Amino acid sequence: MSREIILNGIRSNETPTLGNYIGSILPVVKLQNNYIDKYQYNLFIPDILSFTTPVNHQDLYLNTIQNLKYYIAAGIDINYDNIFIYRQSYIPALSELAVIFCNFSSFGEMSRMIQFKEKSQGKEKETISVGLFTYPILMAADILLYGATYVPVGDDQRQHLEFTRDLAMRINNRFNADLFKVPYEWQDQIKFVGHQTGLRIKSLKNPDKKMSKSNFKNDPNGIILLSDKPEDAYKKIMTATTDSLGIIDYNPVNQPGITNLINILANLIDEPIEKVITIWKGKKNYNEFKTAVADEVRIFLENYQKTLNNIDESDLMRKIESSEYLLRDVATQNLYKIQQIIGLRP
Ligand code: TYM
Repeated sequence: MSREIILNGIRSNETPTLGNYIGSILPVVKLQNNYIDKYQYNLFIPDILSFTTPVNHQDLYLNTIQNLKYYIAAGIDINYDNIFIYRQSYIPALSELAVIFCNFSSFGEMSRMIQFKEKSQGKEKETISVGLFTYPILMAADILLYGATYVPVGDDQRQHLEFTRDLAMRINNRFNADLFKVPYEWQDQIKFVGHQTGLRIKSLKNPDKKMSKSNFKNDPNGIILLSDKPEDAYKKIMTATTDSLGIIDYNPVNQPGITNLINILANLIDEPIEKVITIWKGKKNYNEFKTAVADEVRIFLENYQKTLNNIDESDLMRKIESSEYLLRDVATQNLYKIQQIIGLRP
């Protein structure tokens, strides 16, 4: 019996952030460590999606390889045959499926996407790419082309996952066929990675906003990049915005800064949030708490970066190329079935 697929992607518009690590990379590493035999793992860089907002194109190719290394440094083991590591643009069937999907998706539903609204906010219409608008469609192709059912993503991607489910069901119904596997619902995705709610690590300076790599230039001290010098990251935590209540509590509404730091700490030391809350709740010394978080972040980055620098690039390139070779074949066959059902092939 073929294995269910866990699929995970990180864009290469910048180095991943601590938010990407906690919301996306870490859950996949834990799944690998606990259930390697049970699933197939598709881990990739959506390189075509990485310039929906402007990037420096000279760096794009190398950033893509570099960002794949963050999976490996986090503990993904390239020696397993059921782990695939690849680049989106090396699987051309994906782009064709995305074009097909455009015709089954509506302008209205794309207009309702919160990420699009946020990222295009305040910008001239003439400067917003159509790629940013249709981004969830390509993301749906990434997932549905292989029939992935588990998609561990941060809370910011919930709406895109729900769109993917809607699209799969819509096309299945339209052609009265089980053409696409429908990914599990959001609640089941969360349970699968062992969380109670979706995860969204916030900016350290503006804890009402997501920690987002696309925002690094405007908010450098609010965002920890995985490539930050450990001592710089330490300082960012120590100068994180908190509140004037003066007593530690886990309260996303009244104390978003402290709550964010509790989330970061619990994930880095791999302890349940409740346990970290029990230790710190009611304490008044914010500096002591920040130091505890900052120390963990510094140690985490030191170890992560040491492992990253020791990755053998030729081994990784061999893995990437063999994964892409195998997936191209599966993708082309799956695309052909879709082309047949929608009337593009006899
Ligand atoms: P990207 O690179 O923006 O984000 C990659 C993953 O990191 C999660 N994430 C966060 N999680 C918690 N807190 C944060 N502050 C935070 N910031 C980012 C995102 O939810 C995501 O899981 N659209 C995807 C890339 C993609 C993809 C896919 C993902 C393209 N196709 C198919 C899954 C399946 C994205 O946002 O990339």
